[in-house]
Amino acid sequence: MSPAPDPSLFDKVVNLCKRRGFVFPSAEIYGGFRSTYDYGPVGVLLLRNVKEAWWRSMVQLRHDIVGLDAAILSPPAIWEASGHLQNFTDPLVDCRNCRERFRLDKLDDPGECPNCHAKGSFTEARHFNLMFKTYAGPVEGAGNEVYLRPETAQGMFVNFKNVLETSRKRPPFGIAQIGKSFRNEITPSNFVFRTREFEQMEMEYFVPPDEADKWFDYWCDERMQWYVDLGIPEDQLRLRPHDEEELSHYSSATSDVEFLFPWGWDELEGIANRTDYDLRQHAQASGETLDYFDPALGERYVPYVIEPAAGATRTAMAFLMAAYDEEEVAREGQGQGESRTVLRFHHRIAPYQVAVLPLSKKPELQEPANEVLGLLQPRYTCDYDETQAIGRRYRRQDELGTPWCVTIDFETLDDRAVTVRDRDSMAQDRVPIDGLLDHLEPKLS
Ligand code: GAP
Repeated sequence: MSPAPDPSLFDKVVNLCKRRGFVFPSAEIYGGFRSTYDYGPVGVLLLRNVKEAWWRSMVQLRHDIVGLDAAILSPPAIWEASGHLQNFTDPLVDCRNCRERFRLDKLDDPGECPNCHAKGSFTEARHFNLMFKTYAGPVEGAGNEVYLRPETAQGMFVNFKNVLETSRKRPPFGIAQIGKSFRNEITPSNFVFRTREFEQMEMEYFVPPDEADKWFDYWCDERMQWYVDLGIPEDQLRLRPHDEEELSHYSSATSDVEFLFPWGWDELEGIANRTDYDLRQHAQASGETLDYFDPALGERYVPYVIEPAAGATRTAMAFLMAAYDEEEVAREGQGQGESRTVLRFHHRIAPYQVAVLPLSKKPELQEPANEVLGLLQPRYTCDYDETQAIGRRYRRQDELGTPWCVTIDFETLDDRAVTVRDRDSMAQDRVPIDGLLDHLEPKLS
């Protein structure tokens, strides 16, 4: 059984994000811009680690998937063919009483406005296209429209032939991409969960049509396991198949990986069977042949596509929420108790793997501290902090989720050893500087 969601966690994590430099509201000095966020010094490390962990499992550790980095600006022809100009809409309603706008499909009660509680005050639903349109070149007007991509996927479909011809891959094979996408969401909400600018991690896996079901199941299992391997407890994850009426215009089957957010279960990633829809649409619209000749079978076919499509920004938020913990502990170095907040990140996800903390700013400690930093920095992302009492510095590293702190003290000058502190147990070991890399390597690989 899954634990009940904890609504108080939301504010705690949002506050921590601001206080420690994970996430800032965009344009804050101008009063903020509700629909986008900026990733601060630690947030950018967290987000990079999420993307790096995804790339490692999807591309680096496999021989059947290659990468791509396609353009964000794209001509209308792509979105005409993909069906997004026609179908990528959300149902929009206005409250006639308070003038607030809502997504009809996200309302708990479509008969009552959640803002002013007026009953029966909504207008008829209008289909609102979520794509951002802009103009290429100096002239604004018909013929110069371009779109900011609302998904990275189409870049992989329109490059299918290029990749097939240059990479020597044959179905089943995949193309993976990480990058920004843009959607003019009617109601951006829940911090970085739903924003108008966000990052996706998507992979299109091209397979023989009769193997599509097998690969759909395979990718559902693989993707669920990825979150578990990186520390999200299994009871905070579930796989939810879409009902028929919920399916996107291109999908014959979709299952969402959902996480238990403070407001309840919600989507982290969708795994879809996109059939041969996209390749056929682009082949028809462009006149190019987008299929594969299988020499073994002696026949030509249009591959089906299984697509695991995750949000990097949304996933970073889930890792933050799953890692958040508060506990009562004895104050380190003293008798009294205190409460501490700790992010129990997996070491691949933690912004810093190691913090190097000379006990004091005195010049004689700087030489060994620099030596330790020089040893560690080529392998790990390190923080360096030499001010404040050591107990407070440990608390700060706990709130950043740093798995290991290395403290250099005055004894180091005599014994060339340092104190290595474990974030989770707070246990401390004395380790010779010369053995430090060997000590940390098995814990951080
Ligand atoms: N290519 C398929 C596709 O884009 P999607 O379910 O619309 O499918 C995939 O998006 C993932 O992108 C979602 O599961 C979510 O993690 C992320 N995502 C979508 N819209 C988002 C938004 N407005 N803000 C943050 N993340 C979003």
